[in-house]
Amino acid sequence: MTIPAYIHGKGFYVPERILTNQELEAMVDTSDEWITTRTGIKERRIAAPGQATSDLAEAAARKALADARMEPSELTHILISTLTPDAYCPSTATKLQHILGCGPITAMDLNAACSGFMYGLYTARAILAAEPEARVLLVAAEVLSTRTNWTDRTTCVLFGDGAGAAVLTGKPAPGATELVDVTLGSDGTYWELLTVKGGGSGSPYTLGQTIEENFFIQMRGRETFKVATRTMIESSQSMLDKHGISNGDLGLLITHQANLRIIEYVGKKLGLDPEQIYVNINRFGNTSAASVGIALAEATELGVIKPGTNVLLTTFGGGFTWGSALLRTPGE
Ligand code: ACO
Repeated sequence: MTIPAYIHGKGFYVPERILTNQELEAMVDTSDEWITTRTGIKERRIAAPGQATSDLAEAAARKALADARMEPSELTHILISTLTPDAYCPSTATKLQHILGCGPITAMDLNAACSGFMYGLYTARAILAAEPEARVLLVAAEVLSTRTNWTDRTTCVLFGDGAGAAVLTGKPAPGATELVDVTLGSDGTYWELLTVKGGGSGSPYTLGQTIEENFFIQMRGRETFKVATRTMIESSQSMLDKHGISNGDLGLLITHQANLRIIEYVGKKLGLDPEQIYVNINRFGNTSAASVGIALAEATELGVIKPGTNVLLTTFGGGFTWGSALLRTPGE
C-alpha cells in the first residue's frame, strides 16, 4: 500500500566554528594526510559553548518551515532524531515545541544513531498513514562534540555537529518532493560495536564519580566499515529493484556521510557515476543522525537535485541500524 507522504520544506544548519584537520594535528597524534586519505574529511563544524541540540534543531526547523511556507502553529507533530539530546529527560522535541511556540501538539525523540533521519522519515510516514491531515516536522540534530573523546584519535577526527530538517504532509503541492518509499533494518548482534554507554542504566554513574571513556562515543571502526558498506548496498539495491529503477534512472544518491571510501564504494557497487553521488563529508564530517538531512537540504539549495528525478537516501548507524528512502522531486 502506498502511503501519500510529501516533503514540503527542507532546511539545515551547521555551527559557525570550523575545526580543521590541522587543528586536530595539534590535539592528538594524527595528520591531515591520514584523515583525508582514510575518511575524506577536511574540516567539521563544532557547536559554540552553550549551543545545544535544540538550538541547532531550531535553526534547521525554521528554515524548513519557511521553505514549506508554513507557520509553527500549523504543525501537528514534532520528531527529533538524535543521540545527543539536550537532556536525558524530558525530550528535546518537547523543548523545540516550546521554543517554536507550537501549543499542545505531539512531540517525541527517536534514537537510531546515524540512521536517525531515515527512522524519522519512516515514523513521519506512519503518522501520516494514521492521520492523513497531520503536518509533521522532522529534525535530525546532533551536538556530537559533547560526546566526543578529544584524546581518542580513532574517533575524534570523524564527527561534527549539525541539524537537518524536513516538513511532511500527506498532500501533494507544487514544489513538494514525494516520499515514494522508505525501508528500515536493524541488527542488535552488533550492539557493542558503536556505543555511548556511560550514564545509561546499563552503565550508570553515581554522584561524584569521575566520568570514564565510556561516556563518549566508542567505535570499532574496521568492523563497522564492513557492515556499513554491505547493508547500505543491499538496502539501496533492493529499493531500486522494488521500484524498477535502473542506475541510469537515478538522479542522485545521498548516503550517510561517515567515510568517503564507504560513499564511493556504495556508489560504485550500485553502478553509479561520481556525479550521481552527493558528498559533503569533506566540509562537515560525520554528523550522525543529521547527515542525510543536511545533505538533502544542501543539495536542494545548491540546485544539485534536478526537477523530476529519483533521489535515493541510504544510511547506517549504531545498533546497527540502516535504511533507505526513495524520493521523487517535482517536475519543472
Ligand atoms: N590518525 C592517525 N592514525 C590513526 C587515526 C588517526 N586519527 N585513527 C586510527 N589510526 C591508526 C590506527 O591506530 C591503526 O594503526 P595500527 O595499524 O598501527 O594499529 C591504523 O591507523 C589503521 O586503523 P583502522 O581503524 O584500520 O583504519 P581504517 O582505515 O579502518 O579507518 C575509520 C578508520 C575511518 C574509523 C573507518 O574504519 C570507518 O570509517 N569506519 C566506519 C565508520 C562508520 O560507518 N560509522 C557508522 C556511523 S557512526 C554512528 O552511528 C554514530
